Amino acid sequence: MKLLYEGKAKQVYATDVADEYIIHNKDDATAGNGEKHSEFAGKGVLNNTISCIIFNMLEEAGIKTHLIEKLNETDVRVKKLQIFELEVIIRNITAGSFCKRLGAKEGMVLAEPTFETSYKNDDFGDPLINDDHAVALGLATREELAFIKEKTLLINKLLKEFFLTMNLKLVDFKIEFGKTADGEILLADEISPDSCRLWDVETNQKYDKDVFRQDIGDLVETYKAVLARMESK
Ligand code: TMP
Repeated sequence: MKLLYEGKAKQVYATDVADEYIIHNKDDATAGNGEKHSEFAGKGVLNNTISCIIFNMLEEAGIKTHLIEKLNETDVRVKKLQIFELEVIIRNITAGSFCKRLGAKEGMVLAEPTFETSYKNDDFGDPLINDDHAVALGLATREELAFIKEKTLLINKLLKEFFLTMNLKLVDFKIEFGKTADGEILLADEISPDSCRLWDVETNQKYDKDVFRQDIGDLVETYKAVLARMESK
């Protein structure tokens, strides 16, 4: 297979089928735009397993995604998309860059979910942008942005309910979207403890990549605990 793209935690391969790709999940974890980097044996399997469970749940709830099938422990077959150069973030509870940027205390429940978009550009540190910037840069049209926002708010509702059944609060998450050759917009990339913040409902213990970012726990054991909660519910 031909390697088309290698990111911090994934590789994307072309397949014999023109409109399909294979995504391989690596064991690498990075934080702070790659400043911190480690490898964790088993992380690729955990992320792939968790993300497939979530994408299947979303598909059943009517959200269209790139996922065609889980191929093996670390790989998925997906629809070929042109990925929007946008990171789409929802926050339900304050944490991370929201607190750093705005001086807010961590853990405040927001009156309503906040919707953010960042320009996916490592050279500039994925800067926060508004709709006018996105349109001006040609990243998406206003109609596409409106569609993405509507779907993202629905995904937030579904994810929040899903995680609550396993006693986890969905603090925030990042997702990505892409477009098929026919112009259909699908949920892409992954949803995993790499791209979500998840806190225990009773103790607020962190069950996500913050354990690596903040050196407060074992990443693989933490992700295994998330999967165990998913599998036992
Ligand atoms: P932030 O608080 O650092 O902006 O992150 C918000 C959410 O987005 C958090 O759940 C982590 C996730 N995220 C990614 O998945 N990839 C990224 O590159 C960044 C900056 C955040």
